[in-house]
Amino acid sequence: MRGRSVCRKRPVVAIDGPAGSGKSTTARLVAERLGYIYLDTGAMYRAVTLKALRAGVDLQDEAEVARLAETCAIRLHQENGALRVELDGEDVTEAIRSPEVGRNIGPVADNVRVRQVLVARQRSFGEGGGIVAEGRDIGTVVFPDAEVKIFLTASPEERARRRWRELQAKGFQVPFEEVEKEIQKRDAEDVSRPVGGLRRAPDAIELDTTGLTVEEQVEKVAELVREAERRMRQREC
Ligand code: DC
Repeated sequence: MRGRSVCRKRPVVAIDGPAGSGKSTTARLVAERLGYIYLDTGAMYRAVTLKALRAGVDLQDEAEVARLAETCAIRLHQENGALRVELDGEDVTEAIRSPEVGRNIGPVADNVRVRQVLVARQRSFGEGGGIVAEGRDIGTVVFPDAEVKIFLTASPEERARRRWRELQAKGFQVPFEEVEKEIQKRDAEDVSRPVGGLRRAPDAIELDTTGLTVEEQVEKVAELVREAERRMRQREC
């Protein structure tokens, strides 16, 4: 783990929170507004899962899945305001969001060796600052020394409502109660995971987004980042 002696010009911004709290949207838009790199760490776990599924590897085989994680090339880049994900040179932006990947990601995200490999890569992306990273363990494990740590929350009902609206917009007619149950299940899984579980860093600022618009949410976070930038400019190192 890196010490606090790192002297960055721009902050590392760590955004954690439960499913449906608006992490991805907020992180992406804050990064865009401030000209920072956006790091979607969930996309990296999804890419390794896709690779393992395609290779026909037993997902419970920790060593083999970790070997794939070590050898694959994952590239994240922004294109017209959207994040594109490349796996070994192929654009897998849509493929990593498939229900099959979602169903199979559990053992990959719980694989300690995969986490070591991906956490090391995430740290190397963020070394120089100017990055907004989003996930479940960013403020606690990946960047414990991040200058800005935010824990986004929203009531389970609000998060279920957002997910339900998203599904409606995509043409999926799912009963609201079903989406609510799924959110509750994800919450329970997220906090009880053996490694990389969802925990609020003690020094994270909790931001409850219930009732906030996306714009309000993004502006609140962007302002915290600007404050950190001002503090860092005044600091000598
Ligand atoms: O944020 P998402 O839905 O794309 O995340 C996909 C999965 O990866 C989810 O099961 C949680 C897991 N994940 C993780 O274990 N650690 C992270 N830093 C980010 C995501």
